[in-house]
Amino acid sequence: MEENSYHGIDTLLLTFDDVAILPGLSTVEPHDVDLATKVSKRIFVSTPFVSSPMDTVTEWRMAAALARLGAVGVIHRNMPREEQARQVRIVKGLSPSPWSEVPRIKLPDGLDNYSLIMEEVEAGAAVVFGAGGIKGYLVLERPDAQFWLDKARYLSLYLLRIRPLPTIDGDGRLIVGAAVSPFDIERARLLEKSGADFLVVDVAHLHNTNALSSLARLVKEVSIDVVAGNLGTKEGVLDTLSRAEEVAGLRMGISSGSICSTGEVAGAAVPTLTAVMNAAQALEELGLAGRIPIIADGGVRNAGDAAKAIIAGASAVMGGRIFAGAEESPGPRIRVGDRLYKPYRGMASRGAMERRFAVDRYSRQAKAVEEGVEGLVPYTGPVVKTLYELAEGLKAALGYAGAQDIISAWRARLARVTPSGSREIKPHDILL
Ligand code: XMP
Repeated sequence: MEENSYHGIDTLLLTFDDVAILPGLSTVEPHDVDLATKVSKRIFVSTPFVSSPMDTVTEWRMAAALARLGAVGVIHRNMPREEQARQVRIVKGLSPSPWSEVPRIKLPDGLDNYSLIMEEVEAGAAVVFGAGGIKGYLVLERPDAQFWLDKARYLSLYLLRIRPLPTIDGDGRLIVGAAVSPFDIERARLLEKSGADFLVVDVAHLHNTNALSSLARLVKEVSIDVVAGNLGTKEGVLDTLSRAEEVAGLRMGISSGSICSTGEVAGAAVPTLTAVMNAAQALEELGLAGRIPIIADGGVRNAGDAAKAIIAGASAVMGGRIFAGAEESPGPRIRVGDRLYKPYRGMASRGAMERRFAVDRYSRQAKAVEEGVEGLVPYTGPVVKTLYELAEGLKAALGYAGAQDIISAWRARLARVTPSGSREIKPHDILL
């Protein structure tokens, strides 16, 4: 941000649609792009996506599914701390194999020369593997067998394409993050004790002296990584790190989320792309460039947005909407006409705040005004499909940028597009 501009009015808040990736000389083919990265100083993932700590996005099922696929989830805090700790323990106790997501069946006699992915579940179908790949599908004689067969086929085809490297700790257990208010040190301690691998400080405006003083105490109380946010400006990052130098990651973006109404209600915003650039600039000034991972949070709609965030300096991308429609998100499938949807809401929406007031005494510190909306998003099926499309799209984008991995993407270039350019670079003049 410009320091000396009158009231900051010269400051330009660029967002994803304001820029395009400038093509650069590439030394690798897109499928060879390496997406391995960090979400915090000590948390490594093979795919740079993190699901938001929101009560319609991440509970144990989403966290487990994403970690099995090489990404990671952050369990929301809109529940009593004991329940959040229990959910962390569930994830830590699950099999890390991505194939655990595939419906399973007991192998009948006579098929012992094949290896079965999984055994022993009454799910109705299974994928049979032999030398050289899939040999077939087994279906149990049940009225709903077709459903399970479809699901087994669907999941296994994606898994075979992605061949994910699960996100696991030193003991081979799935890695899971958990959200915490900067004021809730007791919750932070309990989550660490329950096996959480990292914490994500979850407050709309961390750049506040009370929140920062409490954060400074919190980071000293736990030994796991703490990602701090949300922040938008360079000053916010500098003030955070001067008070809590132990912070192991930065969650950047104010009011860009698809369900955010902060920009409307309070008139305050730093779009995610700009917030990431501000953090990168702050780290550069501190001589810490690349040493504290930046997570771009809010407004990411597709792989192109994710790529822009990464080129701007992010190590990983957090998303709510992109994952909210998945089978693994909390909440029911809702039929409207002939389409399926899932609920999605901001954590500062009326419904989410009512739930929080009921379970969390630290919500007293929270504002009473609604800064989020509630609605529906299309049901997207198992999250593997979304993650596959995001990862493949991101590889293609980095291929254009001339980057072979996340770190080299930080040297790639973005350019501003004009409003007419922005229209032209999307499909146009065709009836879709
Ligand atoms: P997307 O665009 O991925 O954004 O759906 C998810 C991010 O939005 C933030 N968030 C909120 N921001 N009011 C806000 O202003 C809210 O009620 C709200 N709930 C979530 C959060 O950073 C999340 O990761």
